[in-house]
Amino acid sequence: MIYAQIMAGGIGKRMGNVPLPKQFLMLGSKPIIVHTVEKFCLNSEFKLILVSVPIDWISYTEEIFNKYRVVDSRIRIISGGTERNDTLNNALKYIEDYNQITEEDLLITHDAVRPFVTHRIIKDNIKALEKYDAADTVIPAFDTIVQGNNGEVLSIPNRDLMYQGHTPQSFRIVSLKESLNKLTIKERQVLTDSAKIMLLDGKKVKMVNSEVSNIKITTPYDLTIANAILENIH
Ligand code: CTP
Repeated sequence: MIYAQIMAGGIGKRMGNVPLPKQFLMLGSKPIIVHTVEKFCLNSEFKLILVSVPIDWISYTEEIFNKYRVVDSRIRIISGGTERNDTLNNALKYIEDYNQITEEDLLITHDAVRPFVTHRIIKDNIKALEKYDAADTVIPAFDTIVQGNNGEVLSIPNRDLMYQGHTPQSFRIVSLKESLNKLTIKERQVLTDSAKIMLLDGKKVKMVNSEVSNIKITTPYDLTIANAILENIH
């Protein structure tokens, strides 16, 4: 079975002084999270669409899904966790309680604050898992990437080999659980990128091509850009 997880367990500190976690802010005529969940509802391959939100925001999420008519029997609004890995683990536990995990089970995880993910990107993630344990959605780096420390340049890696990591990040669930179980408590706090966890465990991760528009809304500036993208695609 194929499961989707919309990761909305954060509070969006870098968005500054806003009344709601950023995933609930308006983008055009509806909240960011509504745009994102609707993209996943369009794909009939998903058995469940788990929407992981901070525990205190579960009933608010139910309210806005009703208000904006996000009606899909596959949606489950569940509690996120303190760290991104905790949010992931809560979803894995939910899936285990729902059905026994088998080798065929896949999890497609996506940031709630990347509302412009496309049907093509989601499909390519699912396809990548036919041959790989994990997939990471990336875009080539346009700027030169400079590695530095304490105000000094350490290295300037060859740009042709540099990519920016987007989401979805997708996994064969059995394999993901195996890699997560090997982490110490300290590693769980530091290693927040699930594809990196698989990589460090020696597993191959397939790169899926993203789109420039698949931006993550992190700051107020990003929200301005997102509104401009929305105006251009509608
Ligand atoms: N996320 C999550 N659970 C957490 C932390 C983050 O599900 N414990 C989600 C966020 O809700 C977001 C996505 O992961 O949709 C990408 O993370 P980021 O942009 O860093 O979100 P926040 O942690 O909310 O932002 P900030 O770091 O500014 O507080």
